Amino acid sequence: MQPSLLLANIGQLLTLRSSTGTPGPRRGPDLKQLGIIEDGAVLCLGGKIVSVGTTKDALRDPWLKKNPRKVLEIDCVGKVVLPGFVDSHTHPVFVSPRLVDFEKRIEGASYEEIAGAGGGIRSSLEGVRTAGKRVLSEKVLAVLNDMAAHGTTTIEAKSGYGLTVESELKSLEAIRDAASRWPGTVISTLLGAHVVPKEFQGRSQKYVELVCKEMIPQAAKRKLAQFVDVFCDQGAFTAEEAEQIFDAAKQHGLSVRAHMGQLSETSLRPFLRFNPASFDHMDYVNEDDIARLARHDTVATLVPGANYFLGLKEYPRARKLIDAGVPVALATDYNPGTSPTLSMPMAMSLACTHMKMSPAEAVAAATINGASALRVADRKGSIEPGKDADLAIFAVKDYREIPYWFGADRCSMTFINGTVVYPH
Ligand code: NIG
Ligand code: FE
Repeated sequence: MQPSLLLANIGQLLTLRSSTGTPGPRRGPDLKQLGIIEDGAVLCLGGKIVSVGTTKDALRDPWLKKNPRKVLEIDCVGKVVLPGFVDSHTHPVFVSPRLVDFEKRIEGASYEEIAGAGGGIRSSLEGVRTAGKRVLSEKVLAVLNDMAAHGTTTIEAKSGYGLTVESELKSLEAIRDAASRWPGTVISTLLGAHVVPKEFQGRSQKYVELVCKEMIPQAAKRKLAQFVDVFCDQGAFTAEEAEQIFDAAKQHGLSVRAHMGQLSETSLRPFLRFNPASFDHMDYVNEDDIARLARHDTVATLVPGANYFLGLKEYPRARKLIDAGVPVALATDYNPGTSPTLSMPMAMSLACTHMKMSPAEAVAAATINGASALRVADRKGSIEPGKDADLAIFAVKDYREIPYWFGADRCSMTFINGTVVYPH
């Protein structure tokens, strides 16, 4: 039985409750409605949120009056409480950082040049192929714990650095194993179509067949993944190949999402019939597709950590997307090549400074819209009765300080299912 929990006297409680009641991801002006309650309180029982309001109202709760000693009460005076972050795009199954690539890029080489010379994604394969499952799962678990210390309570985790049937399944098993030892929620994604590995060079169709006929069916049968992802871009997979992969995913009952428009533009229209949960990166996207996405629930997941780490001048056009009505989420894209950060506050800071998102939009994109991008918005991403008691306390007076103090971690406590997970 989860203990009961009362967070009281909260300086700013960001509920993220919907101001319109419209289902689906937040878009346009709704993206900045945070549902803030001053001097707020949240009561949680059995791992769920049961009431949300002002401290004065909470103290009148009949259950609380009858059971005052059964509650762990935390005084949040002068602090901000918000839903635990939903990091909807991460690649945590790798062994080593890519320090040589890091130095080469500092000396002027581009991401594509490094990849072309055998660096990049391909250079992470050997480590994952030769590692035992336990080693991988310890790596993932360490990251999950670190993320919780930064206020993240739900993550999406992709495979994608093995690129053989065996090592992709091993990566997904490592995610499942780590998830079973972490109280938060992990949504797993098969990214067998990350790049074409060297042994299939010049025979990408053969590799796509392996993904479609072996990886996807086995991952689905063993319930190792909820989503299938594909890196659709120059140097990775073509739009036709990505469609084949989406087709196979659907045939096996898996939902889809894709890396789109990171390095070049791909027309999104053919993909919408698969009802993707999200298109991620979206540095390159045309006007017609922006208008199309404004009419769909597919979320545009922006990952400015990748632009920052690659030292790019340009960032995804968040303003254009949001103003057109496209639902936007923010994620870390935690990975060894383009975005070695696990901090959602850092991603939010970059979103504000480089993509001109307002701090309020960044909060909604990092919580409720991340939950939509993972199709878990019915239980995550906002502080409302009935939802999971996944909450973060930040030691700041005003929520705008979360992206403002960049590079510093102001998360002071994290709760998952109503239980403290940070500090331990
Ligand atoms: O999201 N674009 C593809 N995947 C990762 C990068 C992977 C890597 O370089 O290891 C990304 O940026
Ligand atoms: Fe990625």
